[in-house]
Amino acid sequence: MNRLATTFTGLEFENPFVLASAPPTESKRKILRAFEAGWGGVVTKTIGLHHVENVAGPKTIFQRASDVAPYVSRNKRPDTVSHSSWNWELISDQPLDLWLPDLEEIKKTYPTRMLIASIMAGADGDDEMANWQKLARAVVDVGCDAIELNLSCPHMDRKDMGANIANDEDVVRRILKAVKEAVDVPIWVKLTPATSSLVEGAGAAYEAGAASISLCNTFPSLPLMDPETMKFEVEVDGLVTSGGLGGLAILHQALQRVSDISKVYPDGAISGIGGIRGFREAFNFIVHGAGNLQVCTAAMEEKGSGGVGVQLIEELKSDLNDYLERKGHNSIEEFRGLARERIVEHNQVRRKSENYNGGYDIAS
Ligand SMILES: Cc1cc2nc3c(=O)[nH]c(=O)nc-3n(C[C@H](O)[C@H](O)[C@H](O)COP(=O)(O)O)c2cc1C
Repeated sequence: MNRLATTFTGLEFENPFVLASAPPTESKRKILRAFEAGWGGVVTKTIGLHHVENVAGPKTIFQRASDVAPYVSRNKRPDTVSHSSWNWELISDQPLDLWLPDLEEIKKTYPTRMLIASIMAGADGDDEMANWQKLARAVVDVGCDAIELNLSCPHMDRKDMGANIANDEDVVRRILKAVKEAVDVPIWVKLTPATSSLVEGAGAAYEAGAASISLCNTFPSLPLMDPETMKFEVEVDGLVTSGGLGGLAILHQALQRVSDISKVYPDGAISGIGGIRGFREAFNFIVHGAGNLQVCTAAMEEKGSGGVGVQLIEELKSDLNDYLERKGHNSIEEFRGLARERIVEHNQVRRKSENYNGGYDIAS
């Protein structure tokens, strides 16, 4: 029996591990390599219709921390461990027309693996709604199993795109309505963690027919400046802008957000993302309610595998399988969401004395 198999948003995954929308899924070559290595699914690098041109410098850096010299930096030093990725890469610059035959070939080559197309358009006006529909129809026509709406890219100039619109519940509803009218596949909605109304945004998405929330995209953040050179660790002509932090550094914050949504919508599906490097992180997303797991930074960092996490997926599968066997579970569903009830209000946690009323006076 395959204990790793899961049904998520109605789709059959051989295992719950999926490469997230990012460089590991930016081309046919990489996606085929990822499936060969054993990933259960991929979400393609986000595909759009607007003009994309990246900055004239590095798009991603990998930052490391060290016990010996305990500061975070991209600079190569001995005895360091991974801390995070920082990127300001835009969505795919490969046009839709070139993606379509690639997607078709990928799906034909690996029919049992889940191919999810990440798409993005704007929010201003009917033309943009038509763009969402055009993208959705095109990728479904060539065989994609599901769609992920990118409402979360943290470095968009356009105010009607990416993380800039994730706060707006009406916009979320409008986009979902348009896409659902166009196609009949599960629609995942990838939200930004950088909003105080995340749970409301997720609620609007579920109500409007989202099959799942994907969480998190990267956290808006700045790279560090070197005190000696006065240069940012990544910059172009001395300038930088808000980019996205990913990797281990965002794990705890991503878990909090998955938990926030899962507690209010225990029946809502969640694809957990943020800092997964191995079984332990994946396990944590599952106990907070995630039924599917996406990975980006750890796959990119793996040396010698072309940035698609060949060894990583082997380890994830075998460590999860060992755990399930050892605990006598038939699937992750048997422990999914188990932490939910143990996340409570601060005042619900026992004090040493009984004279505490959540900071309020105790009525005498
Ligand atoms: C270089 C880079 C490019 C990315 N591009 C996209 C993208 O096009 N669309 C998207 O939805 N997320 C994008 N992401 C975000 C990842 O899919 C993922 O949500 C994030 O990196 C957190 O996961 P991690 O901690 O495993 O890296 C990108 C991340 C990185 C590092």
